[in-house]
Amino acid sequence: MVNVLVIGSGARESALGKAFLASPQVETVFVAPGNAGMPLLGLTLVPLYEDDTASLIAFARTNVALTFVGPEQPLAAGLVDAFQDAGLAIFGPTAELAQLESSKQFAKAFMARHGLPTATATVAHDLAAAQAAVQAAGLPVVIKADGLAAGKGVTVATTAAAATSALQALYADHPAAPVLIEQYLSGAEASVLAMFNGTTRVLFPLAQDHKRRFDGDEGPNTGGMGAISPAPQFTTHQREQAAALVDQTLAGMAADGLDGCGVLYLGLMFTAAGPKLLEYNLRFGDPETQVLLPQVENDFYQLTVDLMSGAAEPLTLTGRTYVGVVAAHPGYPQATTPVLPVVTPALEARNDWLPAGIAHGTDGLQTGGGRVFTVVGVGDTPAAAQASAYDRLRPLLGLLASRTDIGAKAL
Ligand code: AMP
Ligand code: GLY
Repeated sequence: MVNVLVIGSGARESALGKAFLASPQVETVFVAPGNAGMPLLGLTLVPLYEDDTASLIAFARTNVALTFVGPEQPLAAGLVDAFQDAGLAIFGPTAELAQLESSKQFAKAFMARHGLPTATATVAHDLAAAQAAVQAAGLPVVIKADGLAAGKGVTVATTAAAATSALQALYADHPAAPVLIEQYLSGAEASVLAMFNGTTRVLFPLAQDHKRRFDGDEGPNTGGMGAISPAPQFTTHQREQAAALVDQTLAGMAADGLDGCGVLYLGLMFTAAGPKLLEYNLRFGDPETQVLLPQVENDFYQLTVDLMSGAAEPLTLTGRTYVGVVAAHPGYPQATTPVLPVVTPALEARNDWLPAGIAHGTDGLQTGGGRVFTVVGVGDTPAAAQASAYDRLRPLLGLLASRTDIGAKAL
C-alpha cells in the first residue's frame, strides 16, 4: 500500500482525493492544505500551504509515493520543478510548461506558432492603447488580464461603457499591465481534458462548465458554478475535433521542447467557423473534475503512475451522466463575507458532497470561501443526472446560493 499527497484545497481536490482513496493500492490520501470538510470524506489534512515548497518536499519525502498538484498557482511557481530536483515523484507540469496557462501572451504565441485556431487578439500595455484596441475590435469585445485570475479576469463587454469600466479597473492597480483585447466568439463552449506525458495521453469525455454566476448564463464570470459530463450536445465530429486539438497541442509542446506530464485542459468554443481555443489550463478544471472522475472505473492511482512511466491505459467509463452543482456564498464572486453557517449535521451524514470553501466555526462548519462545495448527481440520462444533483443539493443548500439550470443545455 502507498500514500498519496494531493496539493490544493477545493472541491476539485476533494474529487481527486476520493479517486485516489478508491484505489485498492492507496492507504492514506493526504491533502495540503485541504479544507475542514475533507476529513468527512476520509481524507487526511496536512497543515502546509501550497507555496511552502520546502515543507511540502520534506513531508512528501517521508510520507508519500506520489504527489498530485490540483491548482495553477503552485505549478506556475515551480513546485513541480522543485519536487523533481529533489528526486520525488510528482504529477504536474514544470513552470515553463505551465506558462501555457499562466501567460495568455505565451499561449497566444504558442497557438500561432503551431497553427492552433483561436480568437484574434492584441496586447495593450496602457489604458489609451487598450481603448484604441477596443475601438478597432468593435463590440462585443473580450478583455482579459494577462496572468492567473481564477477565471475571474475576463470581461465580455457588450457596450462601450462596460469595456471602458473593465479597462479602468484593470489599469487602476497596474498602469502598465498587459491586457488582451480579444475578438468575441459565439458558440457552444466545451472543456476538453486529458492527462498526458509527452505526446501520450488519456482523454476524458467532454464536459461543459457554467462560468457565469446566474441562470441563463447571466452575470459575472466565476471560477465555475457547475458542470455536466458527458455533454451530449456535442457531436462525434466535434469530439474528434477536440481530440485532434489535444494531439496538435501535445505535438507543439514536444516540438518546442516543453517536456513533462500533467493535465491539459482546452477551453474550446465550437463556433460556426469551427472549434477555437479560448485558453489553455495545465491542470484539472473545477468543477469539471467533480463530474469527470466519477465516470472513470480505472484505478486512478495506477492510471497516473502508468502514465508517468509512459503508458496510456484505456479508460473504462461507467457510461452514466454526471451533473455537478456548486453551492456558493451568495456574495460570490465579489464577496465571501459575512461568514455563514453551513448545514453541518446534514453534511456530516453524507459522503456525496465535495467540500471546498469550508472552515471550522464555533457551532460546526461554516463558509471559508466563495465556492463552498459541489454536489454531484448521476443518472442514465442528462435529465436524470440533473434531477439527482438538485435532489441531493436541496437539503444541503441552507443559506448558500446555486444556479438552478446546470446541465440545461444538454437536455
Ligand atoms: P478564460 O479564462 O479565457 O477561459 O475566459 C473565461 C470565460 O470567458 C470563458 O470560459 C468564456 O465563457 C468567456 N470567453 C473567453 N474568451 C472569449 C471569447 N474570445 N469570446 C467569447 N467568450 C469568451
Ligand atoms: N472550470 C474552470 C476552470 O477550472 O478554470
